[in-house]
Amino acid sequence: MSEALRVGVAGATGYAGRELVRLLARHPGAALRVATVSTPADESREVPSLRGVWKGGFRPLALDELSALSAVFLALPESVAAKVAPTLVDAGVRVFDLSGAFRLRDAEARKRWYPESPELSRDGVVYGLTEMHRDELPGAKLVTCPGCYPTAALLALGPLVAANLLAPGQGVIVDAKSGISGAGKAPSTRTHFSELHGNVAAYGIFGHRHVAEMEQDLGRSVTFVPHLVPLNRGILETIYAQLAGGVTDADVSGALQAAYADAPFVRLTGSTLPEIQDVAYTNFCDIGWKVDAATGRLVVVACLDNLLKGAAGQAVQNFNVAFGLDEREGLE
Ligand SMILES: NC(=O)c1ccc[n+]([C@@H]2O[C@H](COP(=O)([O-])OP(=O)(O)OC[C@H]3O[C@@H](n4cnc5c(N)ncnc54)[C@H](OP(=O)(O)O)[C@@H]3O)[C@@H](O)[C@H]2O)c1
Repeated sequence: MSEALRVGVAGATGYAGRELVRLLARHPGAALRVATVSTPADESREVPSLRGVWKGGFRPLALDELSALSAVFLALPESVAAKVAPTLVDAGVRVFDLSGAFRLRDAEARKRWYPESPELSRDGVVYGLTEMHRDELPGAKLVTCPGCYPTAALLALGPLVAANLLAPGQGVIVDAKSGISGAGKAPSTRTHFSELHGNVAAYGIFGHRHVAEMEQDLGRSVTFVPHLVPLNRGILETIYAQLAGGVTDADVSGALQAAYADAPFVRLTGSTLPEIQDVAYTNFCDIGWKVDAATGRLVVVACLDNLLKGAAGQAVQNFNVAFGLDEREGLE
C-alpha cells in the first residue's frame, strides 16, 4: 500500500476546520500532521469535540511548516486564505481552499466581492465542484472549493443548463434556508441564540457574494434569497425556473440521471422532495423536483450539509480525486 499523504488543516478550530480534522484523522490515505489556529502556540488549547479524534496539538499558522506538506486545507477567513494560498502554491503544496478568495474567474468580479484577493495566475486553479470538474482535479495546484449555497444550486441546475432545458435568457430564483453554522463560530447579533431561536429571517438580498459564483457557472441571472433558520446545520434550496418549450419531466429526469449516474454523493429523489434531516452529517446532496406540465414551470429542491458537502466533505472529495484515491475514501 502506498504511503499516506502528509496533510495539514489551517483554521482547524473553526466549524469547517473541525470537520476537516475529524475526516482526515481517520482517512486511510492521509496523515494529518499540522492543525493551526489564529493564536500563538498554546499547548493547552483543546476542542472538546475532537478529544480522542486527533492527538496532535494545535499550532500557530506557520507557512514554513505547512510548506513541507503534500496538501493543505484552508478553512480560514477569506482575507487570510488570500495571503496564505499563493505562498503555499509557490512552495509546491497542493492547496484545497474552502474560502471564496479565488473562486471567481473574472478579475473585476473578484475585485468587487473579494477585494483582498491578490491577482494570481489561473494556471492550475480549479473550481472544486467535484461532480462538474472531476477531470481537472488531478492537475490542480489550487482547488477553490465552492460555497455551500452555490454547491446545492449548481448541482441542481448545472445539468439542466448544459442540456439546454431551461428557457433561454431567463433567470432563475434560488430561495435558500440555512442553519446557523454557515456563519462560522464567532457569534453576532444576527446569529445570537435569542435572535434566531423561534425565528426565520431573510438576509443579503441583492448583496450576497454567492450570487456571482452561481451566475459564473450557470451563465444566467440568479435572484438569490437566503434565510437563516434555527438549525445548527444544513441548507435547503427551493429553486424556481422556466423550462424551454416542449421540455418534459422525463427530460429533466433524464438529464439529471445522466449527469449523476457515477456520482456517489448526489442522490436524486425525483418527485419525493428531499429534506435536511436526511443529509445532515453526511456528504450527500439530495435533489428532487416537480414540473408543472401545463405551464412548463420547474421547482427543484436541493439539500446538503453546509459543513460537509458544502465545505469540508467536498474538500476531502476533491483531495481524493486530485490524488487518484477512491472518491469516497474517508467520507462514508
Ligand atoms: N461555515 C460554513 O458552513 C462554510 C461553508 C463553506 C465554506 N466556508 C468557508 O470556510 C472558511 C472557514 O469558515 P468557518 O465557518 O469554519 O469559520 P470559523 O468557524 O470562524 O473558523 C475560522 C478558523 O480560522 C482561524 N483563524 C481566524 N483568523 C485567523 C488568522 N488571522 N490567522 C490564522 N487563523 C485564523 C480560526 O482560529 P481561532 O479558533 O484561533 O479563532 C478558526 O480556526 C471561511 O472562508 C468560510 O467562508 C464555510
